[in-house]
Amino acid sequence: MKIGIIYATGAGTTRECASLLAKQFSRHEIILQEIGKDIIDLDAFDVVIVGFSIRMGKPVKAARRFIKANKDKLAGMRSGYFICCGLVDCFEEYAQKALPKELYDSAMDIACFGGSLDYTKFKGFDRLLVRTIRNEILGGGDNADQRSDMALPTIFEINISQFADSVKQKI
Ligand SMILES: Cc1cc2nc3c(=O)[nH]c(=O)nc-3n(C[C@H](O)[C@H](O)[C@H](O)COP(=O)(O)O)c2cc1C
Repeated sequence: MKIGIIYATGAGTTRECASLLAKQFSRHEIILQEIGKDIIDLDAFDVVIVGFSIRMGKPVKAARRFIKANKDKLAGMRSGYFICCGLVDCFEEYAQKALPKELYDSAMDIACFGGSLDYTKFKGFDRLLVRTIRNEILGGGDNADQRSDMALPTIFEINISQFADSVKQKI
């Protein structure tokens, strides 16, 4: 079975998640492709998994375009979706907003793979924004950076393996 893992990333976290997901499918042929970089032909796959990260409450632009352009094709395929974001409690809201109803309803699974709020990886406005989100999670204030980062998102490897199991059961 040919499985396409198609992703869009801003700073690389979604790419990392896509690679971790690919490792879960040792018995299948996996093709990892980045939206905007690779030429993607959905007809080449039996199953497609689309992953993207969230910026300002929406999927990164490349993912928004890809979903819009391929909505009908994706709806007619076995497809699943994963999301990387900083505010993981908002995942369900992001998923509903990002995916047209027919994709949301027909998806094999939709999961949150966590995310990263390591602001040192970003510059300028992006850094400021990521730091603001981080401080919001930590409760704000001047010492937010010194407090425990237990509540901060990381890559949720357990969600990645559960998602892979759920997809494997349906293919
Ligand atoms: C400019 C910017 C805006 C962001 N906006 C949101 C947001 O609205 N909600 C959220 O949960 N996370 C937000 N994030 C956090 C990212 O979703 C998180 O860092 C994710 O791990 C990024 O994955 P990527 O490196 O694959 O793009 C934002 C990050 C940046 C840089």
